[in-house]
Amino acid sequence: MARGLFLTFEGIDGCGKTTQLALLSERLREAGHDVLETVEPGGTDAGRAIRGILLDPRHHALSARTELLLYFASRAQNVTEVISPALQRGATVLCDRFTDSTIVYQGAGRGLDEATILELHRIACGSIFPDLTILLDVDAETSLARARSRNRETGSEETRMDDEDGAFFARVREGYLRLAAREPKRIRVVDARGPVDVVAQNVWEEVNALV
Ligand code: TYD
Repeated sequence: MARGLFLTFEGIDGCGKTTQLALLSERLREAGHDVLETVEPGGTDAGRAIRGILLDPRHHALSARTELLLYFASRAQNVTEVISPALQRGATVLCDRFTDSTIVYQGAGRGLDEATILELHRIACGSIFPDLTILLDVDAETSLARARSRNRETGSEETRMDDEDGAFFARVREGYLRLAAREPKRIRVVDARGPVDVVAQNVWEEVNALV
């Protein structure tokens, strides 16, 4: 059986990835695809425990390298336990964030070396890499405002990443746009400022061209 397609969603916090991933998943299922959804960090029991450490505001003192290794620890388990088996059975895998997040948050954001990040990817994930990545692009101010209002609405605690300032998210966004310019075929930039259904249609057009 042919290996399934591996699609990832990327973008700065509050860009609407999670909503758009759910809408795409529904549409692919309606079209008859076997779809598996997963998330980084998380996706497995161990991954969710690691996510708890990473996003807990009490862990202010986590060093950038500790953070880097924890993101890849979660990912290694997700690849082994969930992503690879699903791709092998021919499913379409949708993942909310993947290694591009590490390249831009820990690389462009925290200043870690990209070659090191790619080497860790090879150790953690082998040859697994997305076939298509949807980058939901929005400016840092809009996304921060959205992320904060979502936290208020859901009453959720601020996560550690929410402590970062606008300059951090601006660097992350620039990092994403640089990656997309380098790999225009794999990474498709979709303007995320519009209404949800317009963005969803634009995402669908990018994906439909491939499936
Ligand atoms: P997430 O719930 O995905 O945030 P959002 O839904 O707002 O996008 O939380 C993950 C946080 O972890 C987010 O701030 C981005 C960060 N992150 C990294 O810094 N590096 C990584 O490799 C990944 C996967 C996420």
